Amino acid sequence: MSIAAHTTTDGRLLSDLDQPTFDARFNRRPFRIGHQLADHRLFSLPRLIELSKSLPESRVEYNSGKLPVSQDPTSTPRNGLAIDETIRRIEECNSWMVLKNVELDEEYSDLLNSCLAEVRQFSDHVSPGMKHQAGFIFISSPGSVTPYHIDPENNFLLQIRGQKCVYMFPQDDRDILTEENLEAFFTGGHRNLPYEKWYDERSERFELNPGDGLHFPVAAPHWVQNGSEVSISFSITFQTKDSADRRSLHRLNKQLCHWGITPTGVGRSSWRDAAKLGLVSGIRAAKRLIGKRDEATAPAGMAVYAKAAKS
Ligand SMILES: [Fe+2]
Repeated sequence: MSIAAHTTTDGRLLSDLDQPTFDARFNRRPFRIGHQLADHRLFSLPRLIELSKSLPESRVEYNSGKLPVSQDPTSTPRNGLAIDETIRRIEECNSWMVLKNVELDEEYSDLLNSCLAEVRQFSDHVSPGMKHQAGFIFISSPGSVTPYHIDPENNFLLQIRGQKCVYMFPQDDRDILTEENLEAFFTGGHRNLPYEKWYDERSERFELNPGDGLHFPVAAPHWVQNGSEVSISFSITFQTKDSADRRSLHRLNKQLCHWGITPTGVGRSSWRDAAKLGLVSGIRAAKRLIGKRDEATAPAGMAVYAKAAKS
């Protein structure tokens, strides 16, 4: 069956996308969309087993799905099964799995690019320059929990099979997601974060069924509770200049803290963010010119930033 067999009468794979919603909410707040992929053959278990075997080992992550919302990533329990066995027995093996960068397979790449081409018609108006497109497929047993975490990409999660509830938190709520959390994450820290019960009151709950999609802003914390059936979801993700800049700013802020400077939080001051991005560009240019590490060029850059911060 071709991709075309799953499109709407107007030829689209996605639905319910509109410019006013993107303008108001893209990469700021979650919003719902629809899609036509619920019966797509690329999401059948036999095809997913084939995909899992073809991906590099590093691109397949799986573990027990019986986890608390707040899970220390260093002690996540394994499920004791092989990859293909996990998918084959997903109905009863209490597991959670993600297949990463599924675009390494040409068929999934075609599907991902077709979906994101539709998103780009709207996202470019708000945040131009779609790049680093990547697809992830989540396969999980009934009742599985995805612990509380953040992700680095602009994401639209398309629910293919089964039902799940996403509990989403504002990306800019610094009571529950601190600058330190973000700096640690964007400099290589694990995605999982500690969760406290009182966070419940700050969450927005989204129930997703086959045909439903949900936008996840970059680094908007969330955790996920599966329903009573096997769940399969397709996550279509990308970066833009804005999201790449944000990553650079958090990384630079961590470095500034290391140098004893207390930086302004990302997004709090547009001119400071612009000055810092100028500094990042300068450091990268110097690094290219003299072939040294970022740290080696940092003192000159730091002086520029310190001067800008005082003015
Ligand atoms: Fe996530």
